Amino acid sequence: MRKKKNRRARLEACADVIINEPEKYRGKWLALKPCFRELQLELGCGKGRFTVETAAENPEVLFVALERVPDAMVLAAERAVERGLGNVYFISSDAQLLAEYFEEREVSRIYINFCDPWPAKRQEKRRLTSPRFLQLYKRILKPGGEIHFKTDNLPLFEYSLEQFAENGFVASEVTRNLHKDGVRGVMTDYEAKFHEQGLPICRCAAALKGAEE
Ligand SMILES: C[S@@+](CC[C@H](N)C(=O)[O-])C[C@H]1O[C@@H](n2cnc3c(N)ncnc32)[C@H](O)[C@@H]1O
Repeated sequence: MRKKKNRRARLEACADVIINEPEKYRGKWLALKPCFRELQLELGCGKGRFTVETAAENPEVLFVALERVPDAMVLAAERAVERGLGNVYFISSDAQLLAEYFEEREVSRIYINFCDPWPAKRQEKRRLTSPRFLQLYKRILKPGGEIHFKTDNLPLFEYSLEQFAENGFVASEVTRNLHKDGVRGVMTDYEAKFHEQGLPICRCAAALKGAEE
């Protein structure tokens, strides 16, 4: 992504929706506003189409979106400001640091949409559905908490289903062609582009075992 002109000024203009010291909110996110019923995260939100539309549809849910590329995050934050949303915040950081920002069992749901596939075996640990990341999610998710995963990449999807099963998650709503009978759910920026090109989209929800505990 090209470096944005005036990025600093543009980020400053979005100060109300950007959290610069997220570790200060660890364990206290829901106390930000009394109306928040649950905390949901999005990892790698990119330009934020999904983030902003999902947040607008669910005003009682607190959405926190992580994005490690500031030039993408600024576009997402600007969209949230334009929509006047009061339930979405952005963190400019890497998902590897999630445990520094979120307390154990603080999060109800994690969205991972069109993450980078890192196809080579030696790159496996960078995949956001690799065991290394799943163990991290297990710490911050509530029992029964869910990962909602979408990708256009079939090998990554099959790999992720295996990893969910091997790491204490139960997958449901599994489809390898989500929009076969018409558009379903909120699309991401990448998804809209892939769908226009006629590429099938894979999706599943994976729940962390242990809801009955
Ligand atoms: C292929 S893009 C998809 C963007 C968006 N989710 C969509 O579907 O339109 C992947 C995004 O994830 C971000 N990303 C990749 N790895 C990340 C990580 N470990 N932590 C935070 N963001 C990450 C990238 O910077 C990029 O913006």
